[in-house]
Amino acid sequence: MKVLVLHGPNLNLLGKREPDVYGAVTLEEINARLGSLAAELGVEVECFQSNHEGELIDKLHATDAQAVVINPGAFTHYSIALRDAVLAIGLPTVEVHLSNIDSREEFRHRSVIAAVAVGQISGFGAESYLLGLRAAVGLLRK
Ligand code: DQA
Repeated sequence: MKVLVLHGPNLNLLGKREPDVYGAVTLEEINARLGSLAAELGVEVECFQSNHEGELIDKLHATDAQAVVINPGAFTHYSIALRDAVLAIGLPTVEVHLSNIDSREEFRHRSVIAAVAVGQISGFGAESYLLGLRAAVGLLRK
């Protein structure tokens, strides 16, 4: 059983990017925590980050995973192409965000991905990813 974790634009800068909003944990550390949790849950996890919409879409098209956890970053708010890719591959998908997007600027309140995801986890910092992985595995085991 394999889960693909996708990180969108600017998330490679976690740790130094607006730490008051996104926390001090780096992307490498988040991926390491996901790896440990995956081992604990007895699943495989593949993590991939890109600043490019097309690369995220290509990764979704090519995946051999059975579920997806995605933090689309700013693409959350406007990428119909990413939304279509999630729909196209038909895998159960969990949307995650470090920050609580509903408590921030109005333009972050709208997610074009949310309606095609099984659900959304937002506002728990790095923990959002771990909750997302648990949710994805739960869906696969159901
Ligand atoms: C984010 C929230 C988005 O609005 C923002 O553009 C990001 C990160 C989050 O994880 O809180 O890049 O997805």
